[in-house]
Amino acid sequence: MESTTTAVCRLRVNGDLRECAIAPNSTLLEALRYGLGLTGSKQGCDKGDCGACTVVVDGEPVLSCISLALAFEGREITTIEGVSEGGKPHPLQDAFDLTGAAQCGFCTPGILMSAWALLRKNPSPSRDEIAQALSGNLCRCTGYTKIFEAVERAAESLGGAR
Ligand code: FES
Ligand code: FES
Repeated sequence: MESTTTAVCRLRVNGDLRECAIAPNSTLLEALRYGLGLTGSKQGCDKGDCGACTVVVDGEPVLSCISLALAFEGREITTIEGVSEGGKPHPLQDAFDLTGAAQCGFCTPGILMSAWALLRKNPSPSRDEIAQALSGNLCRCTGYTKIFEAVERAAESLGGAR
């Protein structure tokens, strides 16, 4: 049932404290997309199955479509809009481009966020570790091989190659 009341939600997103008015039962994905206009995180299945809505909270990937926005006040949230460095694409984004790891691109922001969290914790992941880290992100287009290659390429350009 749609809520008739509104709550003010204060989220720290991509290093900035942002505020939006939302229904108290809004998901984090709804707050990001419709409250703050950060539409990079995609609304796919909207029930925790596809990973298109993945954002990173305090270093860990989170499915924002099944997370209550108000529960994330005070946490450090990073979305795909926050990964570029100095106005340039992140090495992961370059690697996806150069490797041809995105086709329709719908899954790509969520996959990039899972990979971004992985490389911050493990700069030199094995193919198995990459596959494990991306196991919650579904891609209907690429067959995954190019995606794994792109993550390896990004690890290499970030200096963490095996
Ligand atoms: S949209 Fe969140 S898991 Fe699919
Ligand atoms: S590139 Fe189309 S769903 Fe992954």
